[in-house]
Order: sequence, then C-alpha cells, then structure tokens
Amino acid sequence: MPSVAVTRPLPEAGLADLRAAYPVEIYDPAVRGDAGEDQLIALAQDAEALIPTVADAISERVLAASSHLRIVAQFGVGTDNIDLEAARAHGIIVTNTPGVLTDATADFAFALLLAVARHLRSADAFVREGSFQRWETMLLMGMELRGKVLGIVGFGRIGQAVARRALGFGMKVIYHNRRRANPTAERVLGARYVSLEALLEQSDVVSLHCALNEDSYHLIDAAAFRRMKPSALLINTARGPVVDEAALVQALEAGQLAGAGLDVFEQEPAVHPGLLRHPGVVLAPHLGSATVEARTAMARMASEAILAAFNGADPIPYRVV
Ligand code: DGY
Repeated sequence: MPSVAVTRPLPEAGLADLRAAYPVEIYDPAVRGDAGEDQLIALAQDAEALIPTVADAISERVLAASSHLRIVAQFGVGTDNIDLEAARAHGIIVTNTPGVLTDATADFAFALLLAVARHLRSADAFVREGSFQRWETMLLMGMELRGKVLGIVGFGRIGQAVARRALGFGMKVIYHNRRRANPTAERVLGARYVSLEALLEQSDVVSLHCALNEDSYHLIDAAAFRRMKPSALLINTARGPVVDEAALVQALEAGQLAGAGLDVFEQEPAVHPGLLRHPGVVLAPHLGSATVEARTAMARMASEAILAAFNGADPIPYRVV
C-alpha cells in the first residue's frame, strides 16, 4: 500500500481522509530537529507521497533519492522551496494550496501594517514595563491610514485581497505586477497600475505580495530604498529574499524609510540583528497563513491532491507540475 510522509505536524482535521486510507508518517522537528537534506531523504525514501512546507528544501537530490515518490503536495501556495524542474524531470507531480490562505495572509499584512503605523510593539512594552503613569497628549503618535497611498507589489489573489482591505481603511491603492490586472479588478478595487519606480516614489506603505523567482529576488534593494519616502513603511508577507535585508537595515538606520513589518526573512529562521535592534520594526515568525481555518484547509487540499493521485484521477487538483 502506498504511504505518505509529512515533514512536520499539520492540523489533524485536514489529514483525516488521508489517514483513513493510507499510512501517514509525520516527522516532528520539535522532537528530532529540523530536517536537512539527509533526513528528508530518509523520510521520503519509501513514500509515494510527500507533504513538505515552505521551510523544507525539496532539492534535486531529495527528489532523485526518493525513487517511489509520485507526488509532492506542498502545504502552502508558494513552491519556491521545491526544485520544480527536477520534479518535472523525475515525473513527480507537484501541487499546492492556492486560495485558502488569501484572507489569512491579507489580514496579517494589515495586522503588521497597523502594528508598525501605530507603534504597537512600543506601546505594549511601555505598559508592561510600568511606564503608563498618566495619559499623554503626544505619546507614540503614529501614522493614520486614511488618505495614504498603499503600493502593492504583486497583484495576485493576496495582493488584491490587501487592496480590498485598504479600501475599507480609506487608502489610495496603486500596484505593480508583471502583468496588468483586468480593468474590472482595477475598477472594483480602485487600484491604479504604475511602474515599480513610481510605486516606490509615491507610496506611504509598500506591501509585498509577489512570488519569489529570479525576477523578484532582491527586487527591493538599496536603489529601491533610495526612491522611497523617508516616512514610508515596508510590509513583507511574501518571501524574505524579495528584499535585500542588509540594504533594508542600512536604509532604516539611514532614515530612508520609517519602519517595517516583516513576516518573512532572507535566511529564515535567522533574522538580521539590525532588524532586531530597530524600534520601528515589527517581526513575526512567518505567520501569514497561520489561522486554524487556513492551515486546516491547506492540509485538506494537500490530502485531496494525494488521494486523487493515488486513485489515478486526471486532472489532479491544484497541480503545479
Ligand atoms: C505559503 O503558502 O506560501 C506561505 O508562505 C506558507 O504558508
């Protein structure tokens, strides 16, 4: 009987159908340490399906060594952790989980934006350390969102969901994307297409929602920070390497931008020490899709794709390769 290997514990409700039909082995990094290439190979070696996450590098070596593998069902929408070319070459199906984490991630981008704009981290620390002695007229004054320009980089599902929220906050939305969105989406979301350069120059908040690929690697670099307003905020819930983190730290220290809300990092889980030091930065451990609803649905979609593959279905749902 085919078996399934999972690289870390997932919400069980989403795995129920899979478990009822096939043996499922779950690797627990909290017990056994993070799985490097060798552990991933050991885990996937006898399995016909693998469920990895954004944190697992599914390299050519892992795929080549896992000779029984028929499907890699990514627990997440981004697939930049998987060598897709190698999967194609080995005839291994790859699927992902689009759609179900759109709202969770867009909500989280706004959580970070509000936290940075209203100094929530400093406010919380202020109360906890006992500094709240009296109501003060000019304590921790932040930036109001109404009327401000939100520049969205990457106008797919998540970027558009962020635009929808921005409308409710009275923000003006501009966006940049590889391809211009259709006129209806632009009209409904009140979003104006601009070049990346114009977006950087005009935005009070720049929020990143593009996939990580060769074109978007270090898209936001030192030159990009030089274009931004000194009062601007950067929000990144996409992928760490879209931003040159060393350049971000330099820009923050030089006052080229005012703050950042970061859910993703260049060398995850490591964080640049300059980001830990800066008071205008709010950090999170890659929580964009971390709601019970989204993570359960992600597990269910990965299970669904594997069940379809094992049952010989055609087409396989959520197929990427
Ligand atoms: C994704 O889905 O790509 C997120 O980054 C992880 O949930």
